[in-house]
This record gives sequence, C-alpha cells and structure tokens, in this order.
Amino acid sequence: MIKINLVFYQTITTVKESAKYLMLLFAVFASGCSENKAPAFQQSELSPGGTMTVKRLQRQSYIHPGAAVKGMQKLNFWTGFSFFRDPWVASPSSTKSRDGLGPLFNTRSCISCHDAGSRGPMAKVGESMPSSLVIKLGLRDKSNDINYQETDLTKSLTLVDPNYGDQIQPRGILFRHPKLAHAPKGEALLKLSYQTIDGLYADGSSYQLSQPKYQLTKMAYGDLADHIGLTPRFAPNIFGAGLLDAIHVDDLLAQEDVDDNNQDGISAKYNRVMNIATGTLDIGRFSLKAKHPTLAQQIAAAFRNDIGITSRLFPTESCTEQQIICQQTARLGESSNEHSHQAAFEISDKLFNLVVSFNQLLGVPPARNLTTEKVSKGREHFYQLGCQQCHTPSYRTDKNYPVEVLADQLIWPYSDLALHDMGEMLADNVKEDDANGQEWRTPPLWGIGLQKSTTKQQRFLHDGRANSISEAILWHGGEAAVAQKKFTQLTANQRQELVEFVRAI
Ligand code: HEC
Ligand code: HEC
Repeated sequence: MIKINLVFYQTITTVKESAKYLMLLFAVFASGCSENKAPAFQQSELSPGGTMTVKRLQRQSYIHPGAAVKGMQKLNFWTGFSFFRDPWVASPSSTKSRDGLGPLFNTRSCISCHDAGSRGPMAKVGESMPSSLVIKLGLRDKSNDINYQETDLTKSLTLVDPNYGDQIQPRGILFRHPKLAHAPKGEALLKLSYQTIDGLYADGSSYQLSQPKYQLTKMAYGDLADHIGLTPRFAPNIFGAGLLDAIHVDDLLAQEDVDDNNQDGISAKYNRVMNIATGTLDIGRFSLKAKHPTLAQQIAAAFRNDIGITSRLFPTESCTEQQIICQQTARLGESSNEHSHQAAFEISDKLFNLVVSFNQLLGVPPARNLTTEKVSKGREHFYQLGCQQCHTPSYRTDKNYPVEVLADQLIWPYSDLALHDMGEMLADNVKEDDANGQEWRTPPLWGIGLQKSTTKQQRFLHDGRANSISEAILWHGGEAAVAQKKFTQLTANQRQELVEFVRAI
C-alpha cells in the first residue's frame, strides 16, 4: 500500500518536475532570456496611496491624513489621534474618557510603541521592561521544533499559557485597595542578547547579522507551560492600513498558491482567522502573522492586550484564572465605574470608532527620487531578483469599500499580505491560526525608507533585528532564499541601487 502510494507520489513529482522545466523553457523563450523584467514605470508610483498620499513630503512623522481627507473627516482624524497619543490612566480617575488602564499592560498609549506612526525604540540589550518589542505567547509548532516530544501530540493543549495568557504584559497598575493584598504584578522582564553571524557576498566583501536571543526573567506567575513558546513582535508601521483593509478579498485570494502549483518556488498562503464581529472565518490581513481580518479588530486587540482597555469586540480584561489580583483589581475598577454610570466597556463605541477612523485615514508618504538613474536601476533589480513575487507592487482598492476616500484607489504597498515560509533563521516556532512557526506575513514596503529620518532609528523585520534594508534582505530564507542568494550575487553598486529603490518607494 505504502509502496504504491510512494510510486504514485514519485510519478506526480516527475510530472510536476517536467512541467516545471517546460514552463521555465517557455518563460525563457517568451521573454527572450530576460526573466522577470521590470514593467514600464507608471506615474502613479509617485503617489503610492493614490489620493490618500500625504500632500507634501514630511520627514518628522508619518502621522498625517491622506490628501483626500477633508472637513468633518479631518476633524475626526485629529480627535481619534488624541486617543492614540494621550496616555491612558488607571480607574477610578477624574479623566473618565481615558481611564481603565490595565490591570496588566505593556504601555499606556498607542504612540509609545508606534512612534510617529512607525516603530518605537528598540528594547535594550540585557534585562529590561520593553515597550515596542512585545513578547507574545503561543502554541509551539511541533512540525519544525526538534525539542517537541511525540507524547505532546496526545495531550490536549491550550492555545495560550494558563498563567500568562497570550502576551507578556510587563507592567501592572499601582492600584492600592484595602481588599487587595498588593497591586497586580507585572508579568516578567525580557533578557535580550545578540550573537553575531558573519557572511560573505559573492564579490568577497563581508557582512554581519545579529541573531537575537530572548529569555523571560523575574517571572511573577511561575513558569510557562511546556507547549508554549515565545514569539517576539516589534511594533510595525501603521500608516496606509485603511487602504490595505480596502483591497478586495478576491484580489488577495487570486494570489494564493499554497501548494505552489505554478512551480515558482513561492507558496502564498492566507491565514484563516476568526472575525469576531461577524463570527465568520475570514482572511487575515493585519499583525505580523495576519491574525486579524479587519483593521477595527486589530485595533480592539491592541487596546485590550497592549493597554488593558476593554471594548465591544474584546469585552474582558486579559487576566488569566491564575492572576487573582488582576481579576480582583478589574472588578473593583468596574464597580467604581458603575457609580459614575460609565459604559460597560472601558472605551465607548464612539471613541473607539474615532481611533479606527484615525488609523484608516493615515496617509502614505509620497515616493522620492523614483525617476533618478540609480533608483531606476534598483527598480530593475527588484523585479529581476523576484522581490515582487511576495512584495506585490500594486492594487486597485475595492470600488465599493464603504469609506469613500479609500475606495477605488490605485495603490503601491508592495505586499501580498500573505504568509510565507521565511526559513529557520527567522522562525519563532509558534503557530498562530493557520500560520506555522516559520511563516510571516509579507510587510508592506511603502514609506519604510523614511524610518530613519522620522524615528531616528532603522529597524526592520518582525522583531526589529535588522538595522538596515540590506540586513533585512540578507535575513530572507525559505521561500525567499532564491531572492536572497541573487542579492548576494549582485555587485556592491547594484546592491546599493536596489536598496535605494526600496528607500524611495
Ligand atoms: C506595547 C506596544 C504596542 C502598543 C501600545 C500598541 N501597539 Fe499596535 N502593534 C504592536 C505590535 C507588536 C504589533 C504587531 C502585533 C502582532 O503581530 O500580533 C502591532 C500591530 C498594529 C497594527 C497592525 C499593523 C499591520 O501592518 O498589520 C495596527 C493598525 C496597530 N498596531 C495599531 C495600534 C493602535 C491603534 C494602538 C492603540 C490602541 C496600538 N497599536 C498600540 C505594538 C503595540
Ligand atoms: C517569499 C516571499 C518574499 C520574497 C521573495 C521577498 N520578501 Fe521581503 N519579506 C517577506 C516577508 C514574509 C518579510 C517579513 C519577515 C519577518 O518579519 O521576519 C519580508 C521583509 C522584508 C523587508 C523588511 C520590511 C520591514 O518593514 O520590516 C524588506 C526591506 C524586504 N522584505 C525587502 C525585500 C526585497 C528587496 C526582496 C527581493 C530581494 C524581498 N524582500 C523578497 C517576504 C518576501
């Protein structure tokens, strides 16, 4: 039986293989030997967000409404921004619209992690209480974790840690009450260290990468369960997310190729995740493993997990059953709110929707220097190396999207929003819905070249380990190993040209 299957399988692979060579031959023939040629330059590349591109180039901050945002919408944008920027405080307080912080939390405001709409300061080497670098927890992915015991398969495993939940919140509010033994304790500190990896380009010049190592210390609620692993996430850029939300789902699914049927070595896969508002299983777009199907759900999750603010979509605090003081503190906070006739959630629908509007309407910076000779050459390399296989250059957003300024726009985000196996070196070995331990969502590349001037730092990849665009490319493995190898084979000049293109878009 097994033998027959094997023979059958081999036949399939041979058929697939020959199909692959035929296709390759055809591709070479059809393109006159120049594979992956860059398409002709389009004027619209200069305005990557369509009419939602920011009017004038701003180097200090990504926080500006798109040019199409006018009147009342602009007012909502800036009001929403104030709830993104201002720190939340513990309840009970006199600042009713901004209280409810914690009991456990990462930071007090959105902006402390998304500095200028981008990425906040990187965690320091050694032991610290990190802000922008969030340590999430999840089910260790046994498929590529050698330390995982076979017997674990038979246990019924929780998806989150019984003591800590699905995220380490290093801070607790300083809430003192006669009924409480003490204030809720922050969960743990992070110990971060790096190991240097040396590498060589084909031209003989050398490069260095820093491989991070993460360890939790001062753990206040005992050990993690054996089946739970750490997954570090560095706060990503957030501008342009409204436009990504407005891409029609069919335009994403048209790119799906889980089994690599087209034999190009790339197998885009969309995460299937719970849409909490509708109760349906939808395509994930937001967060680094595409856990959230809509921008609103992503923001509600941030309020609850990062700041400890409950909302209609996530109505409970992130206290586990073991975290008794956290639960008691939450209940005492609730009862004090009842006296002041506050809504059932710490953020009302009205304010929540304003924060969503702010995020939706954040514009995309205009492209820079795209037409110079150097950058044009870099553009050629981008397509020749196959970067666009995952970093899908452009879309036209859904013409029926309910927010008019986001509908029917020609945009250039450079992402398929799909999951890709990026190899062992980038793996966190943790599962998140359909994403396995080696898979990450392709991040959009628009505007990333301005990161240094806006935030005074350059940090890339899911945990911010890369200090430059070339380091980010050098870390690519798995499905992107071919593109990475081609990058190392470029001359120093060509590498510079490619980086300049990525900096310009
Ligand atoms: C403690 C740091 C922290 C705080 C505070 C925080 N974020 Fe985030 N944000 C992150 C991290 C980390 C991710 C990636 C999460 C993941 O992969 O699960 C993220 C993801 C996002 C995304 C998705 C971007 C994308 O490309 O998928 C948006 C939008 C966002 N945050 C908005 C907000 C808003 C709005 C707030 C305030 C309510 C907020 N964040 C507060 C760290 C933070
Ligand atoms: C197989 C799909 C794939 C290919 C091909 C690919 N990338 Fe990526 N790229 C990704 C994914 C997925 C990530 C996120 C990885 C992570 O965070 O660990 C990423 C991250 C990046 C980042 C970091 C962005 C940020 O904000 O952190 C840059 C820059 C980048 N890619 C550029 C390129 C360039 C240039 C090429 C061509 C040489 C390329 N990529 C080829 C999938 C791909």
